[in-house]
Amino acid sequence: MANVVVVGAQWGDEGKGKIVDWLSERADVVVRFQGGHNAGHTLVIDGKVFKLSLLPSGIVRPGKLSVIGNGVVVDPWALCGEIERLRGQGVEISRDNLRVAENAVLILPLHSELDGIREEAAGKGAIGTTRRGIGPAYEDKVGRRAIRVMDLERVEELEGKIARLLSHHNALRRGLGAPEVDPQALHDELCAVAPKVLPYADSVWMLLDEHRRAGSRILFEGAQGALLDIDHGTYPYVTSSNVVAGQAATGSGLGPGAIGYVLGIVKAYTTRVGAGPFPTEQLNEVGQRLGERGHEFGTVTGRKRRCGWFDAALVRQTVKTSGINGIALTKLDVLDGFEELKLCVGYRLDGKRIDHLPASEAAQARVEPIYETVEGWSQSTQGARSWADLPAQAVKYVRHIEELIECPVALLSTSPERDDTILMTDPFED
Ligand code: IMP
Repeated sequence: MANVVVVGAQWGDEGKGKIVDWLSERADVVVRFQGGHNAGHTLVIDGKVFKLSLLPSGIVRPGKLSVIGNGVVVDPWALCGEIERLRGQGVEISRDNLRVAENAVLILPLHSELDGIREEAAGKGAIGTTRRGIGPAYEDKVGRRAIRVMDLERVEELEGKIARLLSHHNALRRGLGAPEVDPQALHDELCAVAPKVLPYADSVWMLLDEHRRAGSRILFEGAQGALLDIDHGTYPYVTSSNVVAGQAATGSGLGPGAIGYVLGIVKAYTTRVGAGPFPTEQLNEVGQRLGERGHEFGTVTGRKRRCGWFDAALVRQTVKTSGINGIALTKLDVLDGFEELKLCVGYRLDGKRIDHLPASEAAQARVEPIYETVEGWSQSTQGARSWADLPAQAVKYVRHIEELIECPVALLSTSPERDDTILMTDPFED
């Protein structure tokens, strides 16, 4: 039996929610290990829609322990808001089923403000962040001046930590023409939210170690996608955390040996929210059609997603950087009715053929995709539950993707409904 890491293998929004929910039903513990409330996971359970940003997907299922690991940046007000919203939907949340790493870094209002100020100031050069303060919070973590969950417990030490943090931020804010943050006001805000967050605080690495030794099934729930990884993504158009599967170990405090199987979630075409290179983007009716059929609007920001053909070269790359053992291919039905489909198999850069996306920003902007064109299908694949339900051309498309990305399809999802799934490999049993 393996512990499973689920990661997005493109630029996020691959349809992780459904797959994570399907797996979390069979897991004992569900762990978030990076990112924050920039994520948006939609779960549909018995017709009821749950939208999660910060809480692990296990939270909606009774008897599962949900863990927010140390690699996550936690906005305490967003956390409380999400807990209240879910309670309003009938979900029970207490220390029995939710723990937050005491060493996780807090996102403060000054972080989301700074995120917004920088995006506004950057004009056309903006990253297109979710403006949730993710980047600035991680900067403070690495800068060793962040306030962490456990700091809420020691109010007497909070003053000094706030002073250290504000000596950096207020200097920055003066330079940006933003009003300075009043230390007392921040202190009061933190003291007010502390009693709502502290009941969930725990030494998560120790708790997970106990679960691991007791033989619990642990599911690590990634957010965003590997191409948004701070090291391996399309830098600087990335998020500020490591998104690749290795982060599951660092961001939870369990060693890499605890990871048994890495499942990459891959959409049958490509989308991206925010700015940055996107070689197979289709700024034409193909892109329009993919966006409409796929309902490609951001869960968190409501922004329209950019859409394009499947980029096998990119997914082949993320299969490697995340050590993906098998993929869950989602939204195949969005391609129903296309007469022909294109698959990017590599790029041309300055007249030379390459099979991967170069690391430099300038080269990424210059690459031209090399496409293979394959036959589409007119029948519907929506709701298919076995290979026999799929048109031959759709089977061919999926098999060709497997070859191109050098990784097998473990699961095929054919609609948002949980049972509309074709299972080849059970990640927990592999
Ligand atoms: P940030 O994570 O808010 O700093 O945003 C940095 C980049 O990551 C932007 O291009 C966002 O659109 C993108 N991003 C962040 N979270 C998600 C997500 O959950 N899905 C897709 N894109 C995301």
